[in-house]
Amino acid sequence: MNSIETYKNQFVDYLTEIIKVKEPTNLYEPIEYILQIGGKRLRPVLTLMICDLFQGEVKQAYNAALAIEVFHNFTLVHDDIMDSAPIRRGMPTVHKKWNINTGILSGDAMMILAYQCFENYEPSTLKKLLQLFNKTAIEVCEGQQLDVDFENRNDVSISEYTKMITYKTSVLVAAAMKMGAIIADVTENEAALIYEFGLNLGIAFQLQDDYLDTFGDAKLFGKQIGGDISENKKTYLYLKTIEVCNITDKEKLLTLYKTKKSNQRKIEEVTHIFERNNIPQITLKEIELYTNKAFDVLDKLTIDSANKTVLKDFGLSLMKRTI
Ligand code: IPE
Ligand code: IPE
Ligand code: MG
Ligand code: MG
Ligand code: MG
Repeated sequence: MNSIETYKNQFVDYLTEIIKVKEPTNLYEPIEYILQIGGKRLRPVLTLMICDLFQGEVKQAYNAALAIEVFHNFTLVHDDIMDSAPIRRGMPTVHKKWNINTGILSGDAMMILAYQCFENYEPSTLKKLLQLFNKTAIEVCEGQQLDVDFENRNDVSISEYTKMITYKTSVLVAAAMKMGAIIADVTENEAALIYEFGLNLGIAFQLQDDYLDTFGDAKLFGKQIGGDISENKKTYLYLKTIEVCNITDKEKLLTLYKTKKSNQRKIEEVTHIFERNNIPQITLKEIELYTNKAFDVLDKLTIDSANKTVLKDFGLSLMKRTI
């Protein structure tokens, strides 16, 4: 096993070798830009790490890891248009730096580039990877649609929210891990357990993203703080407040969420309502709960305990993240 940093460096070297700007530059520059302005590289690192952990050939996992990261970045380019987000990874979003049409088309091209990454896998692995990728990609679209639909609803339940984040975020984290397992040729049962581990970790990850969107530090998080509030997103923070707060706060919150305005005052007022209802603490507990659910799945895996510790430490570090 290598360190997280080593997998990340190996991956970024590979990405840099493959993703190059060519003509027409207005199509390829935004692609190279979004892929090179940073990012945690969480998903590709997981693909490489899981492949290695099951004694697979790590180099064999490079293309699947690249497919996952390019697809992830494609969803971010389109997501930033949908969420009217100005900043990502501390830099202007693609549609702000260029324009919306550039974001749409460069995003489309990235999706095709992601598919191309699978071309050289041998038939039986290719079939498994593509089936998983297709299922995942369509689920991400479903999750994104639910996320947008929820902006205009005020009766969203926490279980609907959990389904939405499972689709928009967790399935890709889980698929990234399962691809590593597929390339290492593990049994179906073990691949399914790794997927379930990733699914729970992915839910914790999106809860943390919701938390940081309001309570994070803009410089570290790299996104505009309060973006979810501006957009009336039905995040865990919002839904939990509605569930636990008194009638006065509930009415205030419902009124504040009637208009889609990105003003500082709305963000401050909503943040105060969250704070006085203990929502930061409650959310952090929920993140811990899903992280522990992920750890419970690990106990069922037949890998040695040193490797389980590696995966556990990774889960714990995600729980503490500020970026
Ligand atoms: C952002 O993903 C979108 C979510 C699913 C929350 P990341 O937080 O992994 O973003 P980068 O790639 O590290 O910038
Ligand atoms: C994004 O969720 C999920 C996908 C891009 C599929 P968010 O909208 O919360 O992600 P960020 O916060 O913009 O990164
Ligand atoms: Mg967004
Ligand atoms: Mg979004
Ligand atoms: Mg977010």
